[in-house]
Formats: sequence, C-alpha cells, structure tokens
Amino acid sequence: MPQKVQRVKGVNDILPQEARQWQALEHIVKQVMDRYAFGEIRPPIFEKTELFARGVGEDTDIVSKEMYSFSDMSKSSLTLRPELTAGVVRSYIQNNLQQISPVQKLWYEGPMFRQERPQKGRYRQFWQFGAEAIGSPNPEQDAEMIALFYTILKELGIESSVTLKINSVGDGESRALYRSSLQEYLRPHLSLLSETSQKRFESNPLRILDSKAPSDKELVRDAPKIRECLNKASATHYAEVLKMLEAMDIPYIQDDLLVRGLDYYTHTIFEFTSDALGAQDAICGGGRYNDLVSELGGQDVPAIGWASGIERLLLVVDALQPLKADSGLDLFLIVQGEDLRVKAPKLIHEWRRAGLRCDMDTLRRSMKAQMREANRQEASYVAILGEDEFGQGIVQLKNFKTGEQEAVSFENVASYLRSHGS
Ligand code: HAM
Repeated sequence: MPQKVQRVKGVNDILPQEARQWQALEHIVKQVMDRYAFGEIRPPIFEKTELFARGVGEDTDIVSKEMYSFSDMSKSSLTLRPELTAGVVRSYIQNNLQQISPVQKLWYEGPMFRQERPQKGRYRQFWQFGAEAIGSPNPEQDAEMIALFYTILKELGIESSVTLKINSVGDGESRALYRSSLQEYLRPHLSLLSETSQKRFESNPLRILDSKAPSDKELVRDAPKIRECLNKASATHYAEVLKMLEAMDIPYIQDDLLVRGLDYYTHTIFEFTSDALGAQDAICGGGRYNDLVSELGGQDVPAIGWASGIERLLLVVDALQPLKADSGLDLFLIVQGEDLRVKAPKLIHEWRRAGLRCDMDTLRRSMKAQMREANRQEASYVAILGEDEFGQGIVQLKNFKTGEQEAVSFENVASYLRSHGS
C-alpha cells in the first residue's frame, strides 16, 4: 500500500463544519469593516524577501528565523508573507493609492506563514484579518482603529472577556532617550540577563521588556518606564488617544512592558488578550507605524493598523460564545424507484436555482439510507418522490421536525418552503 501523505507540521485543515464558524466570523468582520468605511485589499501571498527584511526588521524573530523563503527561476529570493502590513504598504506605494484619497483605510484577510514552534494557538500557517489606515497622523485615527476591533469583539459577544493593553513607544526622539535610559539601568546587571537579552542589549534593548526569562522579568520590573521618556508631542498624542477611548467606553489597561515584536512601530501600540487561551493569549496586535511608508520608498506618510489571528479568535469564541452557524439544508430529495433517478437531477437543479439549499443521494441507496442522510444533513424538509408523485407532478413534502406532510407541485416547492419557513 502506498504510504499516506500527512499534512505539514503546524498547519491545519479547516473542515466544512469548522468552515461554517469561519464564515460566520468573516460575515461579521466584513460587515463591521464596511460600517467603518474600510475597503478590502488582496495583496499577493508571496513578496520579495527584501520587503520583509526592510519592513519588519532584520533583527526581529520573524525575519531572523521564521520566514519561509525560497528562490524562483530567476534566482530572486521570495518569501511567503509572515504578516501583511509590509505588503499593504508596498501595494499602497506601488499603486499610488494616496492619489485616490489622502487617507486610505484598507482591510484584508488571508493566510500568513511563520516557522514558529507549533503549540495551541500558534501555527506555521495561520490566518489573520487586519486593517491599516494610511495617511492620518492624528489620535482620532488611533481611536478609530481600536474601536474597529472592539466593535468586532462586541458583535461576537466576547468583549468583556478580552483585555486591551496599550502603551506608547513615542516618536524617534522619545525612543532614543528611552533606549539610553533603559541601557543605563540595565548595564550594571548585564551578566544577569538571559543570553537573548544580552544580544538585544545593543541591537534592540526595548525587546528585553517582554522577555519571558524569569531573571529578565525580575530586572525589568523596576526599569524606567517609556511613558516617562515621551517628549511633549508624543505624550500629548498618547493622552488624547486614551481620552477618546474613555469617551467611547472602551476599557483599557496601560501596560508599561508592552513592546511589539516587529520593528516598525511608533507611538501607540496595543494588544487584545484573552484568558481563555494559554501562553499564546494575544488575539490582536497592532500600532502606529509612522516611518514605514517612507522607509519602503514612499512619501512621509503616517499610518496605523492591527491584525487578529483567526484561529486564536475562534478558540476564544468557541470557549465563550459559540457562533450560531446555520448548518442544515432546506430540503433533501428522496427518490423511490430506479427510473426516477434520471429525472431527479433536473428537479433539484430547478429548486437550487430558485434559492433552496438542497441535496439528494447519488449513491442509489435505499429509502431508509436516504432518510438517514437527510437527517445527518439536518434537512428541515424531505421531498419524497415516487412513481405516482412523478406522474402527478408533485412531491410529498414532509416537515422533518413535526412529521406533517403535504403534497406540493414541483414548481411550488420553493414558495411553499419560503412561506412555511424551512
Ligand atoms: P502580530 O502581533 O505579529 O502583528 O500578529 C497579529 C496577530 O496574529 C496576533 O495577535 C495573533 O493573534 C496572530 N498570530 C501571530 N502569529 C501567529 C501564529 N504563529 N499562529 C497563530 N496566530 C498568530 C502583525 O502581524 C502586524 N502585522 C499587525 C499590524 C498591522 N500592525 C500594524 N498593522
């Protein structure tokens, strides 16, 4: 026997039952994005490796060890997107989107790829939906972005079980000041830091703040806070964002240790976390990235965005407030008699064209087996078709729940089900 091919480690098959949950979530996401006037963008799944190296940052975990990179026939290095902010910005620049309007509000959904160690809520192919607003430097844009995700949580009915953690890393000047004050504080304890943090001491000391190593955590507890190093403009921006969140009744906690694992952030950064998950508790992360557009060759245009992991979000939704997905059929056609097998496809074809969700047996099974199949597919009605019925141009429509049965002509089946509510 040939060996079965197994799926790659850390990726998932989303089977039809689960896909219904995904569709219910996607429906909510699309509606909310529409209400907030975001347009959908669908950039490619792979890009030149250089885009992520420059955009996300050479020193980040994503670029230094997690990317799926390969070369194509022209020997250029390509990478399966580990995230979509860099791709959206590349597309914004390349397609001159600023010419269409000075603020571009874009959303997306799709698979991302990172070679991380798989565990619950952490996969190598995972899905994100996300939003990017490119063009406005002002705090009301930050507030709108956060409100956008909060509204999705509300629609899902899980907002009270999710925590919004927020912080500001300020502008370049504030970050430079903080960087040296953090280094000054840590320098005498350098040998106590974990190996990774010692490496980051020069290249990216802010990342030491979110180290998971116990010795680092202990040291970092009393470290100076970035909030205290924000210059006036950065502090004002941040304070205004918080004020607007309060006005919208969006609860938050300020987390002085929150830093994000991607290099492009400036000013406001945030994460939504849930206790319903294990170690991988972030269901959404994002922030401002005022320098990325210019760093990738565009004009000096500010931006802010976030992305949410769909698998993780659905783990939370399943644990707290499962989505109601309408899974059953309207109708299952049950055919009695060999000769009718050739007539049945046309009948069901017409009902489907009339908008009914219906199915029939194609294995030529017994009546009993067809009934079982109708039951398995949670059909509201079965339509029984025998020789007599066919002769009269009718089917016996049987309500699967109540057992009530009525003869209905072929062409009236759709309107009958609509008026009786399948
Ligand atoms: P990120 O924090 O790397 O940010 O990812 C955002 C979200 O994607 C996470 O909060 C998590 O829910 C989900 N996620 C990340 N990695 C995995 C994984 N391996 N398995 C399952 N889910 C995962 C970004 O990607 C930024 N592009 C967000 C952003 C947009 N910032 C500005 N604009």
